[in-house]
Amino acid sequence: MVRHLTKISDLSKAECEKIINKAIEIKKNPDKFDTTLKGETLLMIFEKPSLRTRISFEAGMQQLGGHAIFYSIKDSPLGKKENIHDTAKTASRFVNLIAARVFKRQDIWDLAKYADVPIINMLDDFAHPCQMIGDFLTIKEKKGRLGDLKIAYFGDAYNNVTYDLMRIAAMFGLKLDVACPKGAEYTPEKIVLDEVSQISKETGAEVNIIHNAFEAAKNSDVIYTDSWMSYGILVEKEEERKKIFMPYQVSLKIMKVAKPNAIFMNCLPAMRGYEQTAEVIDGSQSIVFDQAENRLHGQKAIMLFLRGKL
Ligand code: CP
Ligand code: NVA
Repeated sequence: MVRHLTKISDLSKAECEKIINKAIEIKKNPDKFDTTLKGETLLMIFEKPSLRTRISFEAGMQQLGGHAIFYSIKDSPLGKKENIHDTAKTASRFVNLIAARVFKRQDIWDLAKYADVPIINMLDDFAHPCQMIGDFLTIKEKKGRLGDLKIAYFGDAYNNVTYDLMRIAAMFGLKLDVACPKGAEYTPEKIVLDEVSQISKETGAEVNIIHNAFEAAKNSDVIYTDSWMSYGILVEKEEERKKIFMPYQVSLKIMKVAKPNAIFMNCLPAMRGYEQTAEVIDGSQSIVFDQAENRLHGQKAIMLFLRGKL
């Protein structure tokens, strides 16, 4: 059966660990893997912008001996000129892997339903699994472990990255406090809360939605935030959102409440003065560029896994 990566919980904890360990091996010795996907092709479909995801997938595929095709949705609107069934079936005849960054989760699910090759979600409105593999690889490097950790997330929690962070924290039995404004527009959807609480029952994880940023930061090993202006949010909303999220901005005061050796993470793109202050993202606890780099190594391991080469 073809495996897909639509959200991080499509993988088991053991599979995540296997992919992360392979990524560490690839990072140490990239030349050893330079023909592992020789002659293979990755199609990358983009409906939203990207810096990290596009470049790291393209460079990663090349470093594994394969080739990546960048395909903007502008060239053939997904599901409009041609339905997703026909797009998925046709592309499956040409390439070995299809990665997609789209607005709607249903489009990823439809691609996965109809494609005959693995589908990789490069970000929709429900998940960002490639980010999680890179992030947990980074946490492992910085903290030396992936168990017994307290993570705190700040800001927009009606959010793809937050959803997968909640899922992976639950899978690894961690404590995660999500600090966000009240209201359906800023808090996780019920479908995500239900999935996370189901996983947590099995793993003993504690994932809580709270509204006090200082409470969330207490005792944390990892302080994590994401954009207040995710791709697709109308610019007219910016001023209103800035006011609503400001109590959840990661400042030096927040960092002081966390453990002294806490790391600061942001999947990027970031805006100084918005989800974090400049002192924090440019300060000594920030590891955001190591985090960004690890997208490359993580995704190389994901592609090998999905091609049955791990
Ligand atoms: N973190 C992330 O996915 O960045 P891009 O939007 O630049 O790809
Ligand atoms: N939540 C952000 C993540 C960017 C990688 C967005 O959707 O734009």
